[in-house]
Amino acid sequence: MNVRRSIITLCLFLAIFLAYRFVRPLQIFVVSPEFEVPIDIGAVPVGLDSVSAKSCGKCHTEIYEEWSSSMHADAWIDPYFQVDYAFDGYPQICLNCHTPLKGQQKDLVLGFKDSEKSDPILKSNRNFDESLQDEGVTCAVCHIRDGMIIGPSGSDTAPHPVKRDESMSDGHSMCRRCHMVMGDRWDTFYRLPPCGTYGETMEAGRKPECMKCHMPEIERPVVPGGEIKKAKQHLWQGGHHPEMVKKGLTVKLESIELADSSIEYKLSLSNSGSNHRIPTGTPDRHLTVKFRRLDENMKTLGEKSYKLKRTIMWRPFIVDLWDTRLKAGETRLFSFHVNRQDRPVFIDVEVRYHLLDERRRRRIGYENKEPIDYSIFYKRIEVGKNVKN
Ligand code: HEC
Ligand code: HEC
Ligand code: HEC
Ligand code: HEC
Ligand code: HEC
Repeated sequence: MNVRRSIITLCLFLAIFLAYRFVRPLQIFVVSPEFEVPIDIGAVPVGLDSVSAKSCGKCHTEIYEEWSSSMHADAWIDPYFQVDYAFDGYPQICLNCHTPLKGQQKDLVLGFKDSEKSDPILKSNRNFDESLQDEGVTCAVCHIRDGMIIGPSGSDTAPHPVKRDESMSDGHSMCRRCHMVMGDRWDTFYRLPPCGTYGETMEAGRKPECMKCHMPEIERPVVPGGEIKKAKQHLWQGGHHPEMVKKGLTVKLESIELADSSIEYKLSLSNSGSNHRIPTGTPDRHLTVKFRRLDENMKTLGEKSYKLKRTIMWRPFIVDLWDTRLKAGETRLFSFHVNRQDRPVFIDVEVRYHLLDERRRRRIGYENKEPIDYSIFYKRIEVGKNVKN
């Protein structure tokens, strides 16, 4: 009798515990010590009157324009980020990558009320600078430490002191902090951390070499009229730039006539131009491959589609379920079989990139002004005509 009662009590506890795991706020990120507090860059460097990107841009005009065109400049004002941040209940941890400087955060973190560090003790920040907050991942995030500008070579002709810093020029160290969130927690079972691009390069046995592709080399003066040097474009293009995604993928399509006069269409998709998975970054990003049979009036007779995405179970525990994205260097084949008796006249083949899917867009209430997906490859083939590209 007693044993039975104990089992019932235990099951009850378990049910309540699991139910709680379904309703409590979701904690995607493990807060490791480096993410407990924002980055402190110290005083404004001697010779400068502000640490804002706008003020650097007075002299570093081209770099400023490039940075402005990148998602780093939009990391805070990005409407998708803003909606998602509100939907998640404004977790403090988001700020440490999207507005990582002490001066960019409204509140200072004095400590935490809970062991998971999800509930910070906050005090209003007297040095909060709202316009600096709007600059997101601004110049100072990478270039100012201890009140000094840090740079790849340590120029002595600059109007501000520059300290040479090895991590600036090794091609990847600068990127690790935010493009791979490390840390263990008892209820979290990631194979790769979220936004884990940096980790994906190691999974593929590759060197990270982030800057080789995301900060392409160029010869130009550091300031207008200066000496021409080897420099790096501050572009950081990714999923928001269709041309960049196209650069990463090689698409080939061919048709094969089979003995029974049916046709096999084969699409091969290779991650030939990146050192990480494609798509990479947040688990929202995905690719779709779609084949469609059409009749002479362009009416769809049938279709087949594939999704390349990382699927994570978030509740009751975080578990990486499966990952169908392309690893660096990987080639995958997708095929579509067509019988002539079905009378298709055309076959449509399309590869699309999605920043997020429609269901999630609606769930979080994000009213996008820009499309959330776009075409990477599209071809309409007349059935019976050979294709090879
Ligand atoms: C995400 C980090 C990051 C941000 C943000 C960033 N930079 Fe850089 N910057 C770098 C790295 C890394 C290098 C060194 C590249 C190399 O030479 O290997 C660099 C190089 C430079 C150089 C040296 C010349 C060159 O082109 O290599 C200047 C000047 C510079 N940055 C200015 C700026 C300004 C101004 C901003 C803001 C408008 C800015 N940076 C934003 C990472 C960053
Ligand atoms: C008044 C003009 C001016 C302003 C403002 C200015 N810089 Fe510079 N900066 C220069 C000059 C000039 C150089 C040296 C150019 C050269 O070496 O050819 C330089 C060099 C640099 C370098 C290269 C260091 C290296 O190792 O090669 C970095 C990085 C840099 N600045 C970052 C910044 C950042 C970040 C800001 C804003 C917080 C800023 N600068 C504001 C004029 C300026
Ligand atoms: C302080 C944190 C931080 C650092 C350091 C950083 N990034 Fe980022 N990066 C971000 C954030 C946050 C975003 C996304 C902004 C958004 O879309 O809201 C981003 C976006 C990007 C994107 C574009 C993604 C897209 O959606 O198009 C690329 C590419 C990128 N970063 C590469 C780099 C590289 C290369 C480095 C190293 C030189 C680097 N980042 C350093 C935080 C950082
Ligand atoms: C050989 C070239 C190459 C190297 C090296 C490389 N990338 Fe990329 N990266 C790409 C291409 C191409 C894309 C566009 C495809 C995509 O978005 O998945 C991309 C996309 C991205 C994105 C966009 C993700 C998003 O959400 O839109 C981020 C972030 C990024 N890379 C970061 C990095 C970081 C960090 C490193 C270093 C660990 C790195 N990349 C190394 C080529 C490269
Ligand atoms: C460890 C750093 C880090 C933290 C913490 C972080 N992010 Fe990000 N976030 C990134 C990076 C890097 C990107 C862009 C590249 C990518 O997709 O990985 C990004 C991209 C995004 C995007 C996609 C933006 C776009 O326009 O496509 C959203 C939305 C976002 N983050 C929301 C959040 C929210 C909400 C939180 C807090 C719960 C958060 N992030 C915490 C690093 C971080």
